[in-house]
Amino acid sequence: MRLNRAGASPSVVGMTELIAPTERLAASLVEAVHEFMDEGRGGHDDESLTGYLIRRFAARAGVDWVHDYLAEERRWVTDPPPGLVPMTMLWWADGDTYLGRISIRHHLNERLRDVGGHIGYDIRPSARRRGHATAMLAAALPRVAALGIDKALITCDFDNVASRKVIQRNGGVYEDQRGKKLRYWVPTTPANTAEGGGRPNAACRS
Ligand SMILES: CC(C)(COP(=O)(O)OP(=O)(O)OC[C@H]1O[C@@H](n2cnc3c(N)ncnc32)[C@H](O)[C@@H]1OP(=O)(O)O)[C@@H](O)C(=O)NCCC(=O)NCCS
Repeated sequence: MRLNRAGASPSVVGMTELIAPTERLAASLVEAVHEFMDEGRGGHDDESLTGYLIRRFAARAGVDWVHDYLAEERRWVTDPPPGLVPMTMLWWADGDTYLGRISIRHHLNERLRDVGGHIGYDIRPSARRRGHATAMLAAALPRVAALGIDKALITCDFDNVASRKVIQRNGGVYEDQRGKKLRYWVPTTPANTAEGGGRPNAACRS
């Protein structure tokens, strides 16, 4: 993979890349979704797109649901689910192995500006703690910039240490905490990077 300004962890190896969602990785996506389900994802309190995917599609057996899911996911660029804005979905992959996904919302509505942010992501449980999320976000930032977004709002739960580090490693500048969400602005091009933007801050619990 190409090194980026966040730096690639030495443990991120292989040919990891951001790709458009594809049926080619269907079998691997199904395996990954079962990993998410095994860690309890997909309940009604799981507001993430992975939660939606599990509830609406993955309860079906086999890989047949993947085709329907991808068809819907592709529509989200222009026709998103209720309450969401248009978004681009990208997958983080190593060859035919699905590692995770990142969703880029094209603009903020009131709720997204408050707690949801521009970007959401997941790495499958078996691929965690190898630098993938940090590298995936770094790889996605030029795509965000291409949408005309100079600074992306990314939020995480105050006790989500891993996600907070991913944001900070990518230059996230802390703004405030709203409810249980920490809000950071991440510059999408090096020119927008503020000095010291990635520093931890007292409001974060680790
Ligand atoms: C958050 C998540 C995306 C991180 O993915 P990842 O690929 O494991 O992250 P990275 O390997 O890039 O790790 C980033 C940092 O977090 C640390 N980290 C990762 N998992 C951690 C954990 N469970 N506890 C503490 N630190 C952790 C890593 O050591 C690394 O720190 P370092 O840079 O100081 O070494 C992944 O855990 C996940 O998908 N979680 C569930 C969904 C989620 O929380 N999404 C984000 C919503 S805001």
